[in-house]
Amino acid sequence: MKLFVDTGDIEEVRQAAEWGILDGVTTNPTLIAKTGKGFRETVLKICELVPGGAISAEVVATNYDDMLKEALEISSWHEQIVVKVPLIEPGIKLVTTLADKGIRTNVTLVFSVSQALMAAKAGATYISNFVGRVDDLGADGMDAVRDTVDMINTYGFDSEVLVASVRHPMHVLEAIRAGAHVATMPLSTMRMMFKHPMTDSGLTRFLDDWNKAGLSIF
Ligand code: G3P
Repeated sequence: MKLFVDTGDIEEVRQAAEWGILDGVTTNPTLIAKTGKGFRETVLKICELVPGGAISAEVVATNYDDMLKEALEISSWHEQIVVKVPLIEPGIKLVTTLADKGIRTNVTLVFSVSQALMAAKAGATYISNFVGRVDDLGADGMDAVRDTVDMINTYGFDSEVLVASVRHPMHVLEAIRAGAHVATMPLSTMRMMFKHPMTDSGLTRFLDDWNKAGLSIF
């Protein structure tokens, strides 16, 4: 499963990229607004920090003509850019147009398998299924992910299911179990994935024993 970091913060991207396990970055208008910096400069810096990675940058218009203008502008900035498009009617029309032009898309704000079917049929590269926001409502956000992965596999669509709105490592585990292709998450959640109390206590013991014996590698 690919791992993307969900942030517009250059420092966070730099830190995640240093591990060498990062496949891409997702941003959204809220995350870009938080940076206090320009959209283009932020996205281009992210592309530079994650060579070859898929970098999602979102359109903000809600009518087809303006969405298309924005999508063509954003995608012209860098070959790594994936145009993020909300799942609304003109959005699906836009994904069809962009797919015909060979421009990769990430359809966002997807909450149900029927929405995901529309995105897959339009030729979306990624389908961003939000889980945390559904969990917040007291439902199981992963249900739609499981159904969507089944739907993609059953009908042989090329789209990848991207689990978004990930809040904790259990979401990542469930994404793996569902057979999702990608999970995107904040850097803080990615850091939690390293953690296990037995790893910490085990390392402490190894180092105590080593030091007590007065050993040295060099
Ligand atoms: O970028 C889309 C998604 O990952 C947002 O997550 O935590 O704002 O629901 P969240």
